[in-house]
Amino acid sequence: MDLELRGRRVIVTGGASNIGRAIVLGFAAEGARVMIADIDEPQARAVAAEGGGEVLVHRTDVTDWTSVQAMAAAATAQLGGVDVLVNGAGWTIDRLFLDKPRHEWEREIAIDLWGFINCTRAVLEGMVAQGSGRVVSIGSDAGRVGEWREAVYSGAKAGVIATSKAIAREVGRHGVTLNVVCPGFVPGLPETSGAESIWAGEQGAQFTPAVLERVARAYPLRRVGRPEDVVPAVLFLCSARAAYITGQTLSVSGGYTML
Ligand SMILES: NC(=O)c1ccc[n+]([C@@H]2O[C@H](COP(=O)([O-])OP(=O)(O)OC[C@H]3O[C@@H](n4cnc5c(N)ncnc54)[C@H](O)[C@@H]3O)[C@@H](O)[C@H]2O)c1
Repeated sequence: MDLELRGRRVIVTGGASNIGRAIVLGFAAEGARVMIADIDEPQARAVAAEGGGEVLVHRTDVTDWTSVQAMAAAATAQLGGVDVLVNGAGWTIDRLFLDKPRHEWEREIAIDLWGFINCTRAVLEGMVAQGSGRVVSIGSDAGRVGEWREAVYSGAKAGVIATSKAIAREVGRHGVTLNVVCPGFVPGLPETSGAESIWAGEQGAQFTPAVLERVARAYPLRRVGRPEDVVPAVLFLCSARAAYITGQTLSVSGGYTML
């Protein structure tokens, strides 16, 4: 099946690390023209260098509306417009609700929910005007079922899911689709995770091999996810082949949730 992604103009937020990186490389392999919009510019440049095809970098803070508007303007100037937005930037740290300081909740809402709202808003008008567009956001199974030690993150990701559906109803008539792909647990590796990555600090350190083995037992397919597992679903939903699919939420999580 030809996904017809060759030459498509794609922005991937959070494309410097782990899942986002794999998505960038997946688009590049399909011949798409990609812009990584990430706060970690050096790591984004490292990914661009391994991308093979046309992979540009625009340092972007998805929580900052001015920065996001500059991202959209850069994509218009350098790519000639935007056909696809992948909202991949995200952040969390696992802690019980009662133990978690407010600034961590605020960071989760700022990056996971406001980041999605800002970036979607910034490119949507152009997509409506051109009569086509794809927005695929990386949600989380946490946003579908509510995850232990991930209360506010779960809420933010549930917000991404519901807001995507609502916007999908508004812009479907203009040929623009919005869908959400929900990974399960996809631990980052040091060599593919940037300094701003969820996996760089305390969060990564708590997932020792013994813990990962225990987590894997909760998955019907008996392993945790790899970044590459998420890529085919994202590419498909961003493609011409998915023109009649909108407002949907797809878990790519080894059967962790079955909704
Ligand atoms: N890895 C998992 O287990 C998992 C599970 C479910 C959902 N997700 C979601 O998938 C997405 C990617 O996860 P990951 O494991 O690759 O994360 P990651 O932390 O490895 O990568 C996230 C990227 O976002 C960038 N970023 C952080 N703050 C930013 C900001 N303000 N502006 C722009 N970029 C910013 C980081 O620099 C990094 O490159 C996230 O949305 C995450 O919530 C991940």
